[in-house]
Amino acid sequence: MNNILTHLGNVGIIPVIAIDDADDAVALGGALLAGNLPCAEITFRTAAAAQAIEKMSAAHPDICVGAGTVLTVAQAETAKAAGAQFVVTPGFDEAVVDWCLANDMPITPGVMTPTEINMALNKGLSLMKFFPAEAAGGIQALKAIGGPYAGVTFIPTGGINANNLTDYLNLPMVHACGGSFMVKKNLIATKRFDEIEKLAAAAAEIVRSARAE
Ligand code: 3PG
Repeated sequence: MNNILTHLGNVGIIPVIAIDDADDAVALGGALLAGNLPCAEITFRTAAAAQAIEKMSAAHPDICVGAGTVLTVAQAETAKAAGAQFVVTPGFDEAVVDWCLANDMPITPGVMTPTEINMALNKGLSLMKFFPAEAAGGIQALKAIGGPYAGVTFIPTGGINANNLTDYLNLPMVHACGGSFMVKKNLIATKRFDEIEKLAAAAAEIVRSARAE
């Protein structure tokens, strides 16, 4: 597996970020690093995404910064130009997947159904985002999918929090999880980076103890 995707697996929980002011990206990155979460998925849900990717990457080379909610090839191109090291999509978009594969950009496409898993497998991708994890059946759905799809691993995202993270991480087909619970938009907007650091550290500790079991 690609080094970047391996790194995301090692961190175990990927902070999913929607940031309104790119100037907050540096302090946010500092809080994630201090909380032992050296990765970030900055989503194209806000206009500040590309600039935030650029700023966080420049200030914190130790953080693996990627782009999330990538819906178009144009956004993937913008993300790469800003320094994104990986791309996450909410659904399976063939054009975005093909562009990433042609441009050596690691991608975890979003899937929710066996049909979409087949589509990713047909592109040679065996690591996928499972989205929206809780709404799509959560742990039970992943267990059911795991039967026919041995060898496929997932990054469940959507509804993951400090209470259910351990249960997801304990599933053999879970590579890592994604979640916004430690980087809530209001915490960033009100610059509560101390609180973000605490939540990040608590999440990192959940990963550590789940994997020590
Ligand atoms: C995403 O963009 O992947 C999800 O919205 C994150 O889901 P969460 O906010 O429930 O963690």
